[in-house]
Amino acid sequence: MSDTLFDVQNVTLRFGGVVSLNDVSLHQDRGEILAVIGPNGAGKTSLFNSLTGVYQPQEGTINFVGRNGKTLSIIGRKAYRVANYGVARTFQASRMFSALSTFENVKIGAESHRGIGVVGAMLHGPGTRRDEKRSDERTVELLKFVGLTEKANTIAASLSYGDRRRLEIARGLATDPQVLLLDEPAAGTNPSEKLELANLIRRVRDDMGVSILLIEHDMKLVMSLAERLYVLNFGGVIAEGTPEEIRANPVVIEAYLGSTTEDAESK
Ligand SMILES: Nc1ncnc2c1ncn2[C@@H]1O[C@H](COP(=O)(O)OP(=O)(O)O)[C@@H](O)[C@H]1O
Ligand SMILES: [Mg+2]
Repeated sequence: MSDTLFDVQNVTLRFGGVVSLNDVSLHQDRGEILAVIGPNGAGKTSLFNSLTGVYQPQEGTINFVGRNGKTLSIIGRKAYRVANYGVARTFQASRMFSALSTFENVKIGAESHRGIGVVGAMLHGPGTRRDEKRSDERTVELLKFVGLTEKANTIAASLSYGDRRRLEIARGLATDPQVLLLDEPAAGTNPSEKLELANLIRRVRDDMGVSILLIEHDMKLVMSLAERLYVLNFGGVIAEGTPEEIRANPVVIEAYLGSTTEDAESK
């Protein structure tokens, strides 16, 4: 159990009469690239929101093993505290500051992590100058890592979809997380951008040692990237396994992937 990162047991989340998550149990090991797939409305984003303290499930437990090896209970914690534990995420719909530059977007992530805050950064108080230098250096490093150095001064709103996705990953990494949760990172990107994103996500794990939890609709991408997958349908886990096992699982093929694996791969 020492290499467990997330341990989710029997989580149920309801909104009035709607059951978004129904008795969900899953686990992620440290260092793993894990994916959650399933049709629209299956509960994937609800799961991410529950793992990050945004939603509070009525039943079950979510444990996260933090930097120091201490087990932390997520349910009942506020989202900013969960983020401080080392859980970073990107959103299905982009949430960057469109009017700011690429550089500023990442720097705000680095600063909020250090507790300087946007206001402190703007006031340039003498106590924060060293911190600010560190945030600048970290931002430069991260932009280089995600391949956005040349777009540092571009206004975020005018970036391509692929570049916006890179920017969101850089912002997530600016908080020095243990795990990065990516909600449909390839949405809206073209095939060559998808390939580049897959390579970037793999490098986040390989070079930065950050575990990856991924929601993705593109079957080719998710099957090439994930080491293990969970399949959600109507809020419940219907299958778990390696890409090969998931592809061959009749329950998955029936419920989600369509009649043949080839169909699913062309989606
Ligand atoms: N804040 C909310 N209020 C009410 N219902 C919600 C809320 N968030 C999610 N749901 C419901 O939970 C179900 C799962 O949604 P979601 O987690 O977004 O699915 P997915 O990401 O797999 O498409 C849907 O029926 C959705 O309407
Ligand atoms: Mg979703």
